Amino acid sequence: MEFSQQLSTTPKSAEERAKILADPGFGDYFTDHTAVVDWTQDASGKGVWHDARIEPYGPIMMDPAASVLHYGQEIFEGLKAYRHADGSVWTFRPEANAARFNTSARRLALPELPTDVFIDSLKRLVSVDVDWVPSGEGEALYLRPFMIATEAFLGVRPSHEVSYRVIASPAGNYFGGELKPVSIWLSTQYARAGHGGTGEAKCGGNYAASLAAQLEAEANDCKQVLFLDPTNDFAVDELGGMNVFFVFTDGTLVTPELNGNILHGVTRSSVMELARERGLTVQERKITIDEWRSAAADGSLAEVFACGTAAVITPIGELKTTDESIVTPETGKGSVAMAIREQLLGIQTGTIEDTHGWLTRLV
Ligand code: COI
Repeated sequence: MEFSQQLSTTPKSAEERAKILADPGFGDYFTDHTAVVDWTQDASGKGVWHDARIEPYGPIMMDPAASVLHYGQEIFEGLKAYRHADGSVWTFRPEANAARFNTSARRLALPELPTDVFIDSLKRLVSVDVDWVPSGEGEALYLRPFMIATEAFLGVRPSHEVSYRVIASPAGNYFGGELKPVSIWLSTQYARAGHGGTGEAKCGGNYAASLAAQLEAEANDCKQVLFLDPTNDFAVDELGGMNVFFVFTDGTLVTPELNGNILHGVTRSSVMELARERGLTVQERKITIDEWRSAAADGSLAEVFACGTAAVITPIGELKTTDESIVTPETGKGSVAMAIREQLLGIQTGTIEDTHGWLTRLV
């Protein structure tokens, strides 16, 4: 599919861009362009993707009755573009994100997008906004593909008109400032997902459902919320926006199994692969809050960390709730989490050889 291109007549100046890139933070600034592909279903039910284009970044004109605004028919993805030392720009396992996007699309009754269109949209957007790809340590251009139901219709049924878009945002540490262990809030009142729900889809509704608990977390000086499954012995599900891993002193790495509630993280699966290669025993299994508590108490729990595209790998120093605090020992720079983080970032930024075939060149 060919993308047409309309360049912005008011791009940010080189000075403005340099100021943003000096301290990008996460999710505050956006590049000058956006990629768009529309989808329309005709009366016979046949849907077609059409009008692929790069256009200036700006507000979306949408009917107030558009179904995304009422029923949340929406999905998204997150991946990053990394600058290598020779100036080339690469992304990490985009076909995995494209596949997950289509899994999410099926769950939200949205049309699937061909993988080549997904990857081309990233290439086209990053080519035109290549000056926005940062080169600082741990920095990248965060790419946010998303799909929204744009038909103006208030009946509850899948939209006949959809828009696929990609925006890009220069990104540093998701949690701001220097990387350091974060405190996590254990939500006892709210769940993020239920069996048969949308937990493993990457849809806005899951994140909206996490926000009341996220407010509680922030009020208690915590950066993220841990959600449990109250119908499954209070098993650990995931954090508001990332997967969670446990390292035990016997060299076992444990992460909750994919049970329909949990997002199939691309970083999650990469961490498991790198950990296996390092000789760790990797287990995807149920891990309850009781096990977490007792392993921390008897000293068999060595580390806990969060992972995701945005978070990369971030150590969890403490799990807090109203009446308890479970502290993870301080293992600092010698930790498994930090070693895998360095390896992953090294592969992504081209300083460590990509022996897995995980990188795709964008520019
Ligand atoms: C990502 O890691 O890319 C996400 O979509 C999670 C969100 C918390 C930023």
